[in-house]
Amino acid sequence: MALHWSSGLAALAVAVSLFAAGAAGHPFLVPQFYEHTCPQMQAVVGGIVAKEHAKDPRMAASLVRLHFHDCFVQGCDASVLLDDAHGRFTTEKRSNPNRDSLRGYEVIDEIKAALEHACPGTVSCADIVAVAARDSTVLTGGPGWEVPLGRRDSLTASLSGSNNLIPAPNDTLPTIAAKFHNQGLDIVDLVALSGAHTIGDSRCVSFRQRLYNQNNDGRPDPTLNPAYAAELRGRCPKSGGDQTLFALDPATQFRFDNQYYKNILAMNGLLNSDEVLLTQSHETMELVKSYAASNALFFEHFARSMVKMGNISPLTGHSGEIRKNCRRISTTSN
Ligand code: HEM
Repeated sequence: MALHWSSGLAALAVAVSLFAAGAAGHPFLVPQFYEHTCPQMQAVVGGIVAKEHAKDPRMAASLVRLHFHDCFVQGCDASVLLDDAHGRFTTEKRSNPNRDSLRGYEVIDEIKAALEHACPGTVSCADIVAVAARDSTVLTGGPGWEVPLGRRDSLTASLSGSNNLIPAPNDTLPTIAAKFHNQGLDIVDLVALSGAHTIGDSRCVSFRQRLYNQNNDGRPDPTLNPAYAAELRGRCPKSGGDQTLFALDPATQFRFDNQYYKNILAMNGLLNSDEVLLTQSHETMELVKSYAASNALFFEHFARSMVKMGNISPLTGHSGEIRKNCRRISTTSN
């Protein structure tokens, strides 16, 4: 009898956890989406990402960011990859957050060409970006996760969306939180996903204000470690050198780990939007401390939040299309 009870409870627990997993996921996206139509999809993406990352170790960071900048504008629909379509829309590549900054377009082109060869007209550009972001995280030592798939590609892009919806490095924490909330992402998502700044680079222009005139008083940001600020000023002058690159996490630049949060605790966060996680709210401060103390917790939350971000307003069913070339729409009704 006791055995029956316990096995019944175990079955119930499994059912509840399956339900919970389903409830947290997206109803139309599933990891097995290409199982029959393009079984080699994940291997093709993974192979090319690894090859390009071996040539350019910054590429992993650039591909993670590409997914973020795609998902925050019209959902994860590869709108960020579209070039100008004369008279119809202006490319998001020219927005303030993306211009001279966002990278990885050629890697996605290469993957798309290989997949068009292997399984023509089947795999969306949006799914390629989502899998490339996961593979890039794993390649640099970060967590892995199953990527829900089945997104379709947009027929349009939004330059204004890209300018307005993606957080800027000098936004206040409430503004950044509002931009995440707007996408259905909460404070835990915000702090965990900011941990992507454990890899990759920033240009001088993105944090210069902190070095010279943070509060319009001609002084550096008091929440930036003075020794670090002095070092940064050496290569990021008051004017000029806008495009000079600096590691977001100089301690372990190419390694996906929780060092980013340790930097923030030491007032060595590079961007204003990094350091405000410590200084502008108790809730985010506690999360920064938790992730600095536990790499495992950071990895668990990062993976979960990446899936959540990847679920933002996908096009599914008959919406959108599967582009042949990620830079332009294939549907030729115009
Ligand atoms: C919380 C709000 C965020 C702000 C304000 C922000 C801002 C920035 C800025 C200003 C840069 C440097 C760009 C440049 O100067 O060229 C950058 C780089 C980067 N961001 Fe964020 N970011 C945020 C969140 C995220 C999220 C959610 C992710 C991904 C999950 C992400 C991933 C990255 C990566 C990997 C880089 C380095 C890219 C490379 O080296 O090519 N960021 N971010």
